[in-house]
Amino acid sequence: MLSWDEFDKPEDGAAAATPTPATPQHAGAGIERIEREADASVSDARAVSAGDSAAVARAKAALNELDIAEGLEDLEGSAARVQVDEKRMINCRADLNQLVPFKYDWAWQKYLDGCANHWMPQEVNMNADIALWKSQDGLTEDERRIVKRNLGFFSTADSLVANNLVLATYRLITNPECRQYILRQAFEEAIHTHAYQYCIESLGMDEGEIFNMYHEIPSVAKKAAWGLKYTRSISDPTFQTGTVETDKQFLKNLIAYYCVLEGIFFYCGFTQILSMGRRNKMTGTAEQFQYILRDESMHLNFGIDMINQIKIENPHLWDAAMKDEATQMILQGTQLEIEYARDTMPRGVLGMNAAMMEDYLKFIANRRLTQIGLKEEYPGTTNPFPWMSEIMDLKKEKNFFETRVIEYQTGGALSWD
Ligand SMILES: [Fe+2]
Ligand SMILES: [Fe+2]
Repeated sequence: MLSWDEFDKPEDGAAAATPTPATPQHAGAGIERIEREADASVSDARAVSAGDSAAVARAKAALNELDIAEGLEDLEGSAARVQVDEKRMINCRADLNQLVPFKYDWAWQKYLDGCANHWMPQEVNMNADIALWKSQDGLTEDERRIVKRNLGFFSTADSLVANNLVLATYRLITNPECRQYILRQAFEEAIHTHAYQYCIESLGMDEGEIFNMYHEIPSVAKKAAWGLKYTRSISDPTFQTGTVETDKQFLKNLIAYYCVLEGIFFYCGFTQILSMGRRNKMTGTAEQFQYILRDESMHLNFGIDMINQIKIENPHLWDAAMKDEATQMILQGTQLEIEYARDTMPRGVLGMNAAMMEDYLKFIANRRLTQIGLKEEYPGTTNPFPWMSEIMDLKKEKNFFETRVIEYQTGGALSWD
């Protein structure tokens, strides 16, 4: 029988004291040795015995045909043990299945922080929202418009972000600790879509109307179309990074999704819904949005860290043309979000109006620009909603609306009985 102690046994049969690491030169020899040892030690186990059914005999025969070297051939990266200084954000040739040794501690820390902030939409009590939404005079038409537009935008936007992550970004980021966070982020995007669906269902809204806003409402459709353009350019399975042009194309995708979609397109809606919660209206929906905002702040910071690390490792990509393009992308995103603010707030509502939101979005745009090393394009803009920063800075132990303690605990212990 194959045992781990025997795995590196020398030819003469004496057990080796410590396993010998496979080096790039010896990787092929290592696989040959595994095959040789495996052949010798498993042949008895593979022998067809009288009690074997035809199906079991077929399974054993199929395993005898397994070619280990061929099976591992398609793995990304080399077959050697990974050294930390071989790790790279993009175009890395080290084995991508070896999580450690860590190089980018910030990515691993965000993975741990994301797990510590776990939450589920059903944990939020929606009863007050249901009563308010169904009452005749609980909300004004302008307030209803804000709730519907935002559930319409977000219910599909988080799905676009998730698709971009798993169908495009994940494959092209060649670092396992970043991929680990991306997997966590993808799950959080699923939870966010779930949260919007949960609100829409709880409030008894017309699901077809809400989920189709990104087809039917121009201010929502424009934002979706703008993001999708960047997914399209890299989601072709034959797309590869590795040239200046394709590396820049990928960098633009990261800027589009992390700095613009998650960093600008979410902010008008978050501010509007959280403003409602501060006025004791739609508090369940606002609480869902508050959890989502906490997750999104981390997604944004992770994206900024990735973009800046790629710039450090590939300074030739960050030339004048790329800086101009990145600035243009952030300005276009800001403009689309200003248009969305005007569409969702034709009049002043909830102590805010479209002009104040425009100032806020310019303030946010300045931050996004400087976070990736670009200069502010709206100098002198101040934040008209300082309470938004306070909400984002809240510690996870306590919830803004004080409806529950939000430190996540797992539901029940496992039992083997
Ligand atoms: Fe999200
Ligand atoms: Fe996100």
